[in-house]
Amino acid sequence: MNKWDKIFESKPKYKPLNDIFFQKLLEKVKKEINPNLKNIIDLGCGTSRSVFQFARMGFDVVGVDFSEVALSALQNDIDDSDFNNIKLINQDLNDITLDLEADIFICVFTYTFINDKEKFLKKIKSSMKEDSVFVLITPVTHENVKYLEIDKPQIAVEYSSTVKLLKSVFSVVEDYHHDYIGAREDYVTFLVKK
Ligand SMILES: C[S@@+](CC[C@H](N)C(=O)[O-])C[C@H]1O[C@@H](n2cnc3c(N)ncnc32)[C@H](O)[C@@H]1O
Repeated sequence: MNKWDKIFESKPKYKPLNDIFFQKLLEKVKKEINPNLKNIIDLGCGTSRSVFQFARMGFDVVGVDFSEVALSALQNDIDDSDFNNIKLINQDLNDITLDLEADIFICVFTYTFINDKEKFLKKIKSSMKEDSVFVLITPVTHENVKYLEIDKPQIAVEYSSTVKLLKSVFSVVEDYHHDYIGAREDYVTFLVKK
């Protein structure tokens, strides 16, 4: 049982993605990159409702996580639903051995917890097609800001080094959106092309 299994035994409720935000992002991707978006991989899906949001939008969805507790709870919810376009895979994102293929790779509130970020990003890049996109949503900290524990800096990655690493791996890295929350929290959405 890993650390995340223990966390999921307490049935945490993480916030869903905002449908309006995601629809606007999709409109942009369809217009600028790929008009025929069919499938999406949610990297570090946990028990998130996002897989149902994507399925309701008509995507074929693959959720990837390494918490058996989360995957089994989510599979029960999928079995109880009418959706037949959601598949779950147990896979450690630190060492992805499977071939992943999708129009959209999305990683929400999980990137911080990946140990070898460069290896992870390179694997995503090599899995992407020329017209795939990688949507990375993560809390970030900034060098010149003093954080308190309530700001939860431990679930964030440092902003400028993250941009630098992304730019060293991918051809296009757009800082698409920031949610500035509370006193000092900043949740960034990067829109990345292979
Ligand atoms: C904060 S939760 C976010 C879950 C979901 N994306 C959401 O927004 O509700 C972080 C997720 O990352 C997963 N995770 C962390 N490290 C992982 C790894 N090395 N491989 C696969 N999943 C991992 C955890 O199991 C957990 O489901």
